[in-house]
Amino acid sequence: MAAKRNPPPEQAPPSLRHIAVVMDGNGRWATRRLLPRSAGHKFGVDALKALVRGCIVQGVPVLTVFAFSSENWNRPADEVQGLMELFVQVLQRETATLVGQGVRLRFIGKREAFSDSLRELIGRAEADSASQDRLQLNIALNYGGRWDIVQAAQALAASGEPFSEDALGRHMCLAGLPEPDLLIRTGGEHRISNFLLWQLAYTELYFSDLLWPEFDEKALAAAIAEFARRERRYGGVPGQPVAAGLRVA
Ligand code: FPP
Repeated sequence: MAAKRNPPPEQAPPSLRHIAVVMDGNGRWATRRLLPRSAGHKFGVDALKALVRGCIVQGVPVLTVFAFSSENWNRPADEVQGLMELFVQVLQRETATLVGQGVRLRFIGKREAFSDSLRELIGRAEADSASQDRLQLNIALNYGGRWDIVQAAQALAASGEPFSEDALGRHMCLAGLPEPDLLIRTGGEHRISNFLLWQLAYTELYFSDLLWPEFDEKALAAAIAEFARRERRYGGVPGQPVAAGLRVA
């Protein structure tokens, strides 16, 4: 009979089904190195690639990252343009590799503001990766948590269905996926910044002083280890079973 083996140490706990990340600190990372802020965003892409690998290795099935908020249009025009160009380049360069890794891509946010080429790449990346099921990677682009709630409310009102938490949840951008169990924010700020306002209701928050390009697989492992130490109570008392709190958006 095969000996019962312990799970490999790099496996995340099974209760960690979804990690959400605010990738903050690219600009400061670059400025400290006397580089343009755009260089920070480029190195930020490498950190994102390492995060994807880390989630795959650790068996985390869903990852949602905040790449561009609806408020980021307020940045200097050249930085916004640089970010848009970077998104195009990354999708052109990385989609096939991500598909090869078993990553399914979904983009959340308002797409109308993007160039035709970026919208086309987004649509193609979603279509090309649709049958992958190792890691669901959601990329928030021109996304705002308040917008998400409003668009869900509009869709629900248009459907004529009665309002309830479950009904509204079915129209949110991440409907059908488990809500984030862990939110990681780098860059030393302790804010949600209009990210997944609805979906973060019971999420464990983890703040790191590392700047996003410095966030590596070791840092991910530290965040997951901290998550594993947390007791999630969903408004209950210590020691109570929590299954009822594990809602699906
Ligand atoms: C925040 O740091 C970071 C961003 C607004 C951009 C994040 C984008 C990437 C990492 C690229 C991802 C690419 C794809 C295709 C998903 P900041 O500029 O606010 O840093 P600061 O707080 O130091 O100024």
